[in-house]
Amino acid sequence: MRTKDDIEKEIRTAGGDILDSEMFTRGFGQSHHFRSNVSDHSLHVTKTALRMAGMFKSVDRDALIKACLCHDIGLIGNRKYVYTTGRMCITQHPIDSAARAEQIIGELSDTEKDVILHHMYPLVLKAPHTREGVLICIADKYCALYEPFTVRSSSEKLHERLRLHVKTMA
Ligand SMILES: [Fe+2]
Ligand SMILES: [Fe+2]
Repeated sequence: MRTKDDIEKEIRTAGGDILDSEMFTRGFGQSHHFRSNVSDHSLHVTKTALRMAGMFKSVDRDALIKACLCHDIGLIGNRKYVYTTGRMCITQHPIDSAARAEQIIGELSDTEKDVILHHMYPLVLKAPHTREGVLICIADKYCALYEPFTVRSSSEKLHERLRLHVKTMA
């Protein structure tokens, strides 16, 4: 069974370009789910999805990591400013997340696209068709429920272990 260290090393290895990107760094400054922010939330979702993925033999863990890290990156700077309604935010941010993910890591695989584009299911009606896409739907909702109760210091320790450059929230 993979340990927490194993999972965090996997995230660093597969997601290094994303973790070090300017947009992901910016995401630490945009609040999300009351006490969290877009990038901490994305890290929590990635870790949760990887833990669940351990129950299955055939999961594309690299694709899962990259797509989970990027699934909400389209929200950064757009929520409230470009997305003027809640409905628009729900439907448009996965599309913008996929476009930004391509800017950072290049063309996305079908699995990566499925994870990012359909992670809002069932709030959007199109369901994911890959196992990885189902995993993020569960992990994302789970994290959204517990993040309002998270302790900030545990995120700070995670940042140190992953060697992240974090801008604090305004
Ligand atoms: Fe989202
Ligand atoms: Fe999310």
